[in-house]
Amino acid sequence: MSTSAMTSPVVTDRAAVITGIGSYVPPDVVTNEDLTARLDTSDEWIRTRTGIATRHVVTPGTATSDLAVEAGQRALKSAGSAVADAVVLATTTPDQPCPATAPAVASRLGLGGAAAFDVSAVCSGFLYGLATASGLIAAGVADRVLLIAADAFTTIIDPRDRGTAVIFADGAGAVVLRAGDPQEPGAVGPLVLGSDGGLSHLIEVPAGGSRQRSSGRPAAPEEHYFRMRGRDTYRHAVEHMTRASHEAVARAGWRPPDIDRFAAHQANARILAAVADRLEIPPSRRLSNIEHVGNTGGASIPLLLAQAAAAGQLTAGHKVLLTSFGGGLAWGATTLQWPDVTAI
Ligand code: COA
Repeated sequence: MSTSAMTSPVVTDRAAVITGIGSYVPPDVVTNEDLTARLDTSDEWIRTRTGIATRHVVTPGTATSDLAVEAGQRALKSAGSAVADAVVLATTTPDQPCPATAPAVASRLGLGGAAAFDVSAVCSGFLYGLATASGLIAAGVADRVLLIAADAFTTIIDPRDRGTAVIFADGAGAVVLRAGDPQEPGAVGPLVLGSDGGLSHLIEVPAGGSRQRSSGRPAAPEEHYFRMRGRDTYRHAVEHMTRASHEAVARAGWRPPDIDRFAAHQANARILAAVADRLEIPPSRRLSNIEHVGNTGGASIPLLLAQAAAAGQLTAGHKVLLTSFGGGLAWGATTLQWPDVTAI
């Protein structure tokens, strides 16, 4: 790398700063008892293995963009301005394979004309989206970015698969990011991102893409559903979220005891506990909403942040560690000091 490349041009001093946050979950709630009526499972198994009691689900006719628009509206209201130069949508369940869903969301939000595109990083979509938004701002491409993470995850879940149907649910969260100073509250800290495509088969929807279509073989209906090898995934999730968290904390110049709030992708309560234990973060500093929303894929972290902020569990000045893991495999972590925003 040349000397000139290593010195920071002015533009890289522009950090992405959170200035608004909102979330949305569809009104319909499915309880564990509801699931036991159609699956060979029990409330006790679901609670002890996953930490989930209830989850919100879309009803027929509702798509990811509908959730994204609701969360996006709330984030813009929270930011006090309906302006954004770019709309980034992190999702695994786009409304259709082509085109991206973000342009339609931008248009419905009155942001037609803004740059708009989707980010595909499954349950790490929000952190990959934060990196994307930070890059747009640092490069001077945008001054304000609306980042939405939304998933109608139940639309790709096989209702007969007890290994996934009890875990995944629907929701959306969004943040407005503006150009600001790296040292100010709300500035997105150093981002640690990683992937391991050699293990892509652990979490996948086998059909519907060019691989299956070009095979000349029609897909079986069940190949359009999401599959997860739970036990293997669990092991990698704990390992990568722990390692990425350590690295993000170190890059921020923090130590684990500095962390006031731990906001991890709500994959499974036992995974979260295992990661937090390894990071030596006490239970009082761990944010969690999985009991009432389940695993909402990419939406999970902004939904958690918005609900925790609205409930007063996350307040201005808190040092927050974010970490996620999911299909790809893809994982990430970052830090930020919570800004003075009203979550809607
Ligand atoms: N109800 C009752 N029993 C169930 C069940 C359910 N809903 N789902 C699975 N089981 C059974 C299995 O069939 C298995 O039975 P067997 O021992 O007779 O074969 C037993 O429970 C244990 O299965 P296993 O998959 O090993 O359970 P687990 O303790 O690993 O928990 C998950 C399963 C999916 C909850 C857990 O592995 C997990 O959360 N994995 C990671 C999820 C994740 O992080 N995903 C990535 C990010 S989204």
